[in-house]
Amino acid sequence: MPEMVVTNDDLSKIMDTSDEWISSRTGIRERRLAREETTASMSVTAAKRALENAGITAQEIDLIIVGTITGDYVTPSTACEVQAALGADKAVAFDINAACSGFMFALHIADAYIKTGVYKTALILGAETLSKIMDWNDRSTCVLFGDGAGAAVVRSDETGLLAYDQGSDGARGTVLTCRSRENNNPFVKNPTEPSYTHMDGQEVYKFAVTTVPASIKKVVGEAGLTIEDIDCFALHQANIRIIQSVAKRLKAPEEKFPTSLDHCGNVSAASVPILLDEINRKGILKPGMKIVLSGFGGGLTWGSAVLEW
Ligand code: ACO
Repeated sequence: MPEMVVTNDDLSKIMDTSDEWISSRTGIRERRLAREETTASMSVTAAKRALENAGITAQEIDLIIVGTITGDYVTPSTACEVQAALGADKAVAFDINAACSGFMFALHIADAYIKTGVYKTALILGAETLSKIMDWNDRSTCVLFGDGAGAAVVRSDETGLLAYDQGSDGARGTVLTCRSRENNNPFVKNPTEPSYTHMDGQEVYKFAVTTVPASIKKVVGEAGLTIEDIDCFALHQANIRIIQSVAKRLKAPEEKFPTSLDHCGNVSAASVPILLDEINRKGILKPGMKIVLSGFGGGLTWGSAVLEW
């Protein structure tokens, strides 16, 4: 994550908001915002740590996938920038756009490639510099998000991914949008103003608290397990109320839902891998544990997986 910590009190000095409003509705107390860091630079840092943690070299990577909606360039992709920085010259590299589900979609793509024998070793990332697509005059969205990156190495093994569920609902995509460049040529006049993130928070909330529990129940069933068998639910960190509601709907104790959003905010595609890394480093994950990962967001999109650690 970037170095600069921005607390709710810091924000209340530059806009009409308060720590009480933000923390009581979202659980967020502070976030990191990029000053010098970029989506690629944070990705490279996360990728190097993931390789070190997995004990592999860049030469062993066949595939690099970055889930991001805030790459530094339209082209090259963030994944190609990561490839260059690591010297992973045997890898094929590309980005995917699945917003907050980006890391989960990357995991599923990597799994499919590995299962079909196309590639053996993948590096997957979720990375975002969301602060650059926020309207800093819109207090209802800008206080929610943060910047960061997370990475994981994925390889075939006897344990690991037990089941996967993913979905999209493009018909409801208008509830969370950020427009890209508009048509621009000598024959068309369009505003040159950049576009920012717009969100219908209540519709996103309704989507999340219905779709995520259904996706988790489905994937846990497909893994031949019950909700009680799951030791840990690492969910996309959008909002503490969404996480509490999902826990309630699954009839699972909230203690099984670790959080990082108090100090990260919502880092979209980066939130699941950052949380996974935090709970791994804290020693919460033990071999044999059954873990659910679930990401959900813009598109609309969602993806859930059951892992054996
Ligand atoms: N500080 C102070 N007041 C604020 C702020 C702020 N930062 N933002 C909005 N308000 C005010 C509004 O102006 C409004 O005032 P009014 O009643 O005088 O008009 C009041 O607070 C209520 O605004 P709402 O937008 O109705 O607030 P709501 O209770 O719906 O909470 C929230 C907003 C927290 C975003 C909620 O809708 C929610 O939890 N949504 C879930 C969506 C989410 O978490 N999205 C994250 C990104 S998407 C994803 O990752 C999947």
